[in-house]
Amino acid sequence: MRVAEYIKNLKPYEGGKPIEELRRELGIEGKIIKLASNENPLGPSKKAVEAIKNIAGSVNLYPDGDSFYLKEKLAEKLGVSRDNVIFGNGSDELLELIYRTFATDPKDEILYCYPTFVEYKIIGMSFGKRLVELPLEDFSYDIDALIDHINENTRIIFLNTPNNPTGTIIKRKDIEKVIDSVSKDTLVVIDEAYYEYAIAEDDYEELLDLHKKVNVIILRTFSKAYGLAGLRIGYGIANEEIINYLNRVRPPFNVNIVAQNAALAALDDEEHIRKSVETNKKGKAYLYREFERLGLKYVKTYANFILFDVGKDANVIYEELLKRGVIIRSMSPYGYKTMLRVTVGTEEENSIFIAGLEEVLNVV
Ligand SMILES: Cc1ncc(COP(=O)(O)O)c(C=O)c1O
Repeated sequence: MRVAEYIKNLKPYEGGKPIEELRRELGIEGKIIKLASNENPLGPSKKAVEAIKNIAGSVNLYPDGDSFYLKEKLAEKLGVSRDNVIFGNGSDELLELIYRTFATDPKDEILYCYPTFVEYKIIGMSFGKRLVELPLEDFSYDIDALIDHINENTRIIFLNTPNNPTGTIIKRKDIEKVIDSVSKDTLVVIDEAYYEYAIAEDDYEELLDLHKKVNVIILRTFSKAYGLAGLRIGYGIANEEIINYLNRVRPPFNVNIVAQNAALAALDDEEHIRKSVETNKKGKAYLYREFERLGLKYVKTYANFILFDVGKDANVIYEELLKRGVIIRSMSPYGYKTMLRVTVGTEEENSIFIAGLEEVLNVV
C-alpha cells in the first residue's frame, strides 16, 4: 500500500493501560487501580449520570451540531459570547481541527517544548508538518529559547499550562511575551486541560481574557476535573474569526448527544468540582509527604498528577507495579528514564499505590 514516509514513521498514541487489559494480560483477579490517565477518581457528577440516563432513549436522533444549550450555558459561565466557543470530541479533536485549519502550507512550522502532551507531536506528524521541538529546562518552559525559534514560518505554538507530564505552569507574563513576539498569523494555543485544578492554587493566574487577542485559542476539557473523559468533550475559546474558521472544518456532529447533555448537567454541579479539587489537594499533600519519606524527588504540580523520580529504571518499576495491580505511567518514552507519572487518586488508591511502590523499590 502506498503511504507517506511521515505516516510510516508514526508511532500510535499510547494511553494509560486500561484496567481490563491488565486483568486479561496478567490474570489479576483482585483489585486493580489505574492512576495513569489523569482521570477524576471520584467519577462523574451524579447530575451528569442522571442526564445520561435521561437522554439514553433519544440516541436515535442526531445531536445538535451547534451544541446550542451547552454553548449557551458555558458561554454564560465564562462570561464570553457564544461565538467565542467551539466544542470538540475531546480537546484532542480541537487540536486536529487547529492543524487542519491553520497549518495548511508545507513550509509551516509548529513550535512547542517537550516533554508535553504528546498529541501535539503525533497529530503534527500525521499531517507531515515540520515540528520544532525544544527541551524543557528544569521541567519548565524556556520562554526565551522558544521565542528565539519563532520565524516567519511558525504557524502554531503550543503552550500547555499546567504542562502534562511535569505539572509545571507558565507565568502569564511569559505567555504574553510569546503572544507579543509573533505575527497575527501565528496561532498561540494555550492548553489548559487541567485548569480547574490549577486555578485552585494561590499563584495560578487567570488567562481566559487572552482569548480576545487575534491569534490565541484557549483549550479546556470536560475529561479531567469534570470526570467525563469517556464521553469525549472539550472546548476552545477564541475570537469569533478563529472560531468561525474552525467551524468550517469541524465535522457537523462531532460532539454526541450524550456528551452534550452530560456536560450541560456537569456545569451545574459546582459541588462536584469543589470536592474533586479538594480531594486532589489532599491527595497531593499526602503523596508529597510519602515521596519525601521514601527519599524520592518529585516536581511540584498544579494539576492532578505528579512526576517523580525513582533513581532506577522507570520501566522496571512500572512493570513491577502492574504485577501488583497498580497502573501508572513510565516517563521513559519521554526521555525521563528514571521518572514516572502518577495521577492523584482517592485516599485509598493513593495509599495502595504508595504501599506497592515501597514494596517494589525494596525488591528491584
Ligand atoms: C494537556 C492535555 N491536553 C489535552 C488533553 C486531551 O484531553 P481530551 O480528553 O479533552 O481530548 C489531555 C489529556 O490527557 C492533556 O493532558
